[in-house]
Amino acid sequence: MSDRTANIGVVGLAVMGANLARNLASREGNTVAVLNRSRGRTDALVSEHPEAGFVPAYSYEEFAASLAKPRTAIIMVQAGAATDATIDALVEVFEPGDIIVDGGNAYFPDTIRRERAVRETGINFVGAGISGGEEGALNGPSIMPGGSDESWVTLGPILKSIAAVAEGEPCVTHVGHDGAGHFVKMVHNGIEYADMQLIAEAYDLIRRGTGKSPAEIAEIFAEWNRGELESYLIEITAEVLRQNDAATGEPLVDVILDQAGAKGTGAWTVQTALSLGVPVSGIAEATFARSLSSHPEQREAARDLPGPSTATPVDDEIAFVEDVRQALYASKIVAYSQGFDEIRAGAAEYGWNIDLGAISKIWRGGCIIRAQFLNRIAEAYAEQPELPLLMAAPYFADALGRGQEAWRRVVVHATNAGIPAPAFSSSLAYYDGLRAERLPAALVQGQRDFFGAHTYRRVDRAGSFHTLWSGDRSEVEA
Ligand SMILES: NC(=O)c1ccc[n+]([C@@H]2O[C@H](COP(=O)([O-])OP(=O)(O)OC[C@H]3O[C@@H](n4cnc5c(N)ncnc54)[C@H](OP(=O)(O)O)[C@@H]3O)[C@@H](O)[C@H]2O)c1
Repeated sequence: MSDRTANIGVVGLAVMGANLARNLASREGNTVAVLNRSRGRTDALVSEHPEAGFVPAYSYEEFAASLAKPRTAIIMVQAGAATDATIDALVEVFEPGDIIVDGGNAYFPDTIRRERAVRETGINFVGAGISGGEEGALNGPSIMPGGSDESWVTLGPILKSIAAVAEGEPCVTHVGHDGAGHFVKMVHNGIEYADMQLIAEAYDLIRRGTGKSPAEIAEIFAEWNRGELESYLIEITAEVLRQNDAATGEPLVDVILDQAGAKGTGAWTVQTALSLGVPVSGIAEATFARSLSSHPEQREAARDLPGPSTATPVDDEIAFVEDVRQALYASKIVAYSQGFDEIRAGAAEYGWNIDLGAISKIWRGGCIIRAQFLNRIAEAYAEQPELPLLMAAPYFADALGRGQEAWRRVVVHATNAGIPAPAFSSSLAYYDGLRAERLPAALVQGQRDFFGAHTYRRVDRAGSFHTLWSGDRSEVEA
């Protein structure tokens, strides 16, 4: 065991933990203790990176002894049971005032539970969402920590030192207490699902509408990346579309099996939104689109179902591509508006004081959804912190106003041509739903009252009412 003292430790040295440990070690003033369940990863990391000056530990006791007080350790192990086991082991060797940070992809109710249990021991527990994959962990992720104000005092400077920097500001903020950080990270991932699906639909519409090759469409995305759509996801889309398969010479996108995987954070976002009563239709459609793609037997069974009888060619390719760009931007505004709604509803439900503008700022660097666009969201919340609907903020309302005709043309084209565009079309339906003067929800209330006496309210006077449907059909006040 080393007699050197570390100011921060990392437990779990697979790709994310090892990269985060290297990131920490590269920052001025940090000495990093490292521990992994099996010894091999620790030895490999320490021998491959002598420049990092790691302090290796081979037991939790050694790990605790190597850390200066208050001890601070970041856990980067598999989410679920492995995280619980690691927390239990650290609680055994840590003392009141020490800080345990879970940097894995925990489900936020687990973080709320863990925070409550660890707090009983006097140890601080912080659930921190870390976004940016392995590259982000190494060079600067976007970090979304929850936990107590007390732990933020110690942890804040350390996390600021390793986070990505966007426009001079570190991409980390104290999101709120207990599970707030993991909640926001979950919604981030949900928005990421929607953003990716919308881009994929845009690609599909252009390809099937114009017959352009993936390489030609890559140039379109590269061009879009110079405008209001500028983002990491648009940038990497161009890279993926440009790539040719070495084995066949075909565009790589044509040899990749068209079944999208998922690790579950999109589903969590949608499940949580359903519980909160927040319509996140863009995220839901994106999650369902991945599920649909991954049922080959059903796709096979559906292959011969009839489609449109006539092909609907695009007559003006340039105008069509511009329409798709505008539809993409409009749908993206809806997806982010819905995601921020979910955060606002989660904050109200769980008692978190979340600064939505600050969240949009910490997503500007390090994470997968990083984009110029997030500055516009930050500006909208700076102007009106209690904004009830992000897409109604002046900048976004204006952008939607400019794009909505194109958006409708694209959805009509997709429908007529039999091209699935679930995220484009559900976002438009959401937009029109919120805009509507009257919704057929009135009829739904009438139906509910008919079969279940669920009552309804009236437009012209207060109170709840019921029609005696199986009687004389007169109305009574409920
Ligand atoms: N934010 C992102 O972009 C991003 C990307 C990837 C992953 N993550 C999250 O970051 C965390 C780490 O991810 P990863 O891909 O580096 O690793 P991982 O494959 O999720 O987990 C492997 C690590 O967990 C340890 N482990 C497994 N079971 C354990 C147990 N019962 N007790 C103690 N340690 C145990 C392993 O130790 P051994 O070496 O002994 O097996 C190894 O260090 C995960 O929560 C993951 O979801 C985030």
